[in-house]
Amino acid sequence: MAKTRTKYICQQCGGEHSKWMGKCPDCDAWNTLEEVVDIPQSPAQQRRQTLLGNANNGYNTHTPIILPHIKPLVQERIPVGYPEMDRVLGGGLVPGSLILVGGEPGIGKSTLLLQVSGTIAENTGPVLYISGEESMEQIKMRAERLDITGERLYLLAEVELDVIIEVVNRLRPAMVIVDSIQTVSAAHVTSAPGSISQVRECTVQLMQLAKSTQIPILIIGHVTKEGTVAGPKVLEHIVDAVLYLEGERYHSYRLLRGVKNRFGATHEIGIFEMHGEGLVEVTNPSAIFLSDRAVNASGSAVTVSMEGTRPLLVEVQALVTPSNFGNPRSTTNGIDHNRLVMLMAVLTKRVGLAVGGHDVYANVVGGFTIEEPSIDLGVAAAIASSYRERLIPADMVLIGEVGLSGELRAVSRLSLRVREAAKLGFKRCIIPRSGKPTRFPKELETANLPEDFQVITASTLGVALEIAL
Ligand code: TYD
Ligand code: MG
Repeated sequence: MAKTRTKYICQQCGGEHSKWMGKCPDCDAWNTLEEVVDIPQSPAQQRRQTLLGNANNGYNTHTPIILPHIKPLVQERIPVGYPEMDRVLGGGLVPGSLILVGGEPGIGKSTLLLQVSGTIAENTGPVLYISGEESMEQIKMRAERLDITGERLYLLAEVELDVIIEVVNRLRPAMVIVDSIQTVSAAHVTSAPGSISQVRECTVQLMQLAKSTQIPILIIGHVTKEGTVAGPKVLEHIVDAVLYLEGERYHSYRLLRGVKNRFGATHEIGIFEMHGEGLVEVTNPSAIFLSDRAVNASGSAVTVSMEGTRPLLVEVQALVTPSNFGNPRSTTNGIDHNRLVMLMAVLTKRVGLAVGGHDVYANVVGGFTIEEPSIDLGVAAAIASSYRERLIPADMVLIGEVGLSGELRAVSRLSLRVREAAKLGFKRCIIPRSGKPTRFPKELETANLPEDFQVITASTLGVALEIAL
């Protein structure tokens, strides 16, 4: 059975409060609060409320409705003022949505959401920033550094969920930030703040709050590398959207990655750079990542990864050195280690490069992690380039997935990738040859490439390396 809890209802205005007070803060009447024992809703009831969405649409969960009779949801969205983040959200905040912004401590979550609070407060309406992490003065200091005046930005240092819900209902802001979900606790759950049951219960209640008030609520959740703190992972299936802020703490770039979105496409990324005055959008990331490339060094290859709908040119670096102790090591940064081991095996067996007895280091420049197999060819070429001490031409881009028999496999959205490379001044591109040998793959016909841009197709890794090196 659900646990009961006590709440106090004002007999004059009906306001609900978690604590007894002499005066009702809602209507200023004295001695009107009365204790009521509240039986929380069962999980099914809570879920139902979420499913029904907006309460006044007249639907209920007992009567099935045929599809054409369901009114389409009119989704006016609230732009957050940063196109990089709006794109990840699918075009802005959807009213009544609950969004989780996760990331490691110190990565910049509070900074990002305080900046967003500043723009929403300026352009849309009042914002309530609830912090259980820092004092009001600390937030004020940060806001000053970020140049946020915040005429309509309300701060609340509070950790008790009931109080938070009450304040949101009273203030009715345009957006709410909860920093962080690990500090909030619901009075009727006995376990400590940050525990799985607390975090889950608080999130479920905030979801109901968002749905019943149609206010978008953004919650911050800390994740540690080891995943020891209960948090974001548990919540992903409850909330409407999950964004992760990633990046190496010692690199200034920050990636905002959408991993779940009930209102838009996932796998979109937004790129920011952490400056002294906060997070600044990076609108042309490929150009920046390539800007300090050492053109005359072996072991460097440029490839294109698709991040959501956006192609991103990245430099892959590899260093291959003879192993000193007969116990070769391989280390990666930003690339899946298993993938590297697989590529080394393919290079050894199918291309005849004996990289096996060597230490191999490979990394993606800029501090990002790329999971797409389309960078395989770039990684393999960087390794081969370092091993053979030969340069890959500085104006060449390599795109393709490598299979176990050394074949190059087609990748998605080829024309977008190649066009991005051409846009940044690259002149040549090696891509997988699919099917019969053709000079120019069909999907590139519409890519509008410059006259002098050369597209080279290769069916195997060996052939591609012969052309590149
Ligand atoms: P913060 O937003 O507090 O991280 P999180 O909420 O994810 O724990 O950001 C912390 C780091 O960002 C901190 O190390 C300092 C740095 N920072 C800047 O470099 N510039 C700035 O303008 C701000 C506000 C923070
Ligand atoms: Mg913080």
